[in-house]
Amino acid sequence: MNSTTNNNKLRPPLGGQGGFVSVIGAGTMGNGIAHVFAQAGFLVNLVDVNPAQLEKAIATIGKNLDRQVAKATISEEQKKAALANITTVSDITTGVENAQLVIEAATENTELKLKIFKQIDEAAPAGCILATNTSSISITKIAAVTKRPELVIGMHFMNPVPVMKLVEVINGYATKKEVTDSIVELSKQLGKIPCVVNDYPGFIANRILMPMINEAIYSLYESVAGVEEIDTVMKLGMAHPMGPLQLADFIGLDVCLSILKVLQDGFGNPKYAPCPLLVNMVMAGKLGVKSGEGFYVYTAGSKELVVSTSFK
Ligand SMILES: NC(=O)c1ccc[n+]([C@@H]2O[C@H](COP(=O)([O-])OP(=O)(O)OC[C@H]3O[C@@H](n4cnc5c(N)ncnc54)[C@H](O)[C@@H]3O)[C@@H](O)[C@H]2O)c1
Repeated sequence: MNSTTNNNKLRPPLGGQGGFVSVIGAGTMGNGIAHVFAQAGFLVNLVDVNPAQLEKAIATIGKNLDRQVAKATISEEQKKAALANITTVSDITTGVENAQLVIEAATENTELKLKIFKQIDEAAPAGCILATNTSSISITKIAAVTKRPELVIGMHFMNPVPVMKLVEVINGYATKKEVTDSIVELSKQLGKIPCVVNDYPGFIANRILMPMINEAIYSLYESVAGVEEIDTVMKLGMAHPMGPLQLADFIGLDVCLSILKVLQDGFGNPKYAPCPLLVNMVMAGKLGVKSGEGFYVYTAGSKELVVSTSFK
């Protein structure tokens, strides 16, 4: 078992080639995070409790790298090298035992993340930085279950990870400056643009985005305008690439609801209360793209945006 003293001494900063990173969770975000690290020359252990998810992740990374080869942004050799840098592992302890950095991207559930961080803290080498990709759970709360809170930080990638430039770097209450500096440098090495923020509910990205999405849903609920009108106003009027209702479908309405609850509980301010229409849609299983229907309906193979019959 690692002692507190050893764990709190930062390991040497991660180098480019040969740096060893463990990514926990091989879902939407985990496969993207593994992809960008592997492409930048890091050795990656991609860890998931579900073997089918690991297989799917490798297939997705392969497809996404193929797209980059087709666009000539990387060569066939670079694609092969990136894939060869990834090892899939189904056990967390084995997966993190040699890591210089662990990034947790497992399911957004507080109890699960606290359990995973206790496990990682026990198994990862002393001085290894423990990062989480959480969208909304307190970094300080996660850090508090480890014996190395100074080395715990938020590294919030955006979806799709290989495409989106931003990394929101979140300092927990105890995060050491050295750790923040190291994660900022590392994000740049991956070709990303880091922004450092502090650990308060929703950080910056979701604290600003979710109230906007909630207000769009309220506007629909109060019949101020229809789905297409609300999204068109925000796309054409504010130059947003996607309207807030379509974006909510893309993120997942269940995820939007849970982040709004984190904001409401965390600040104790009723302005964050989720719109009753959002609550009803989640209860009805209309979760957006992942369930096939939200504000729009999604048919495999079709890119056409069709408003759900519930809102016609
Ligand atoms: N999806 C997004 O747009 C997005 C954007 C930014 C951040 N995030 C955050 O990223 C994290 C992952 O989200 P996602 O959308 O990739 O979720 P996902 O449901 O696609 O994937 C989660 C993965 O975690 C795995 N998992 C569950 N328990 C595990 C355990 N004990 N050990 C190892 N793996 C385990 C699951 O098998 C699954 O493959 C969440 O914290 C989420 O808030 C998501």
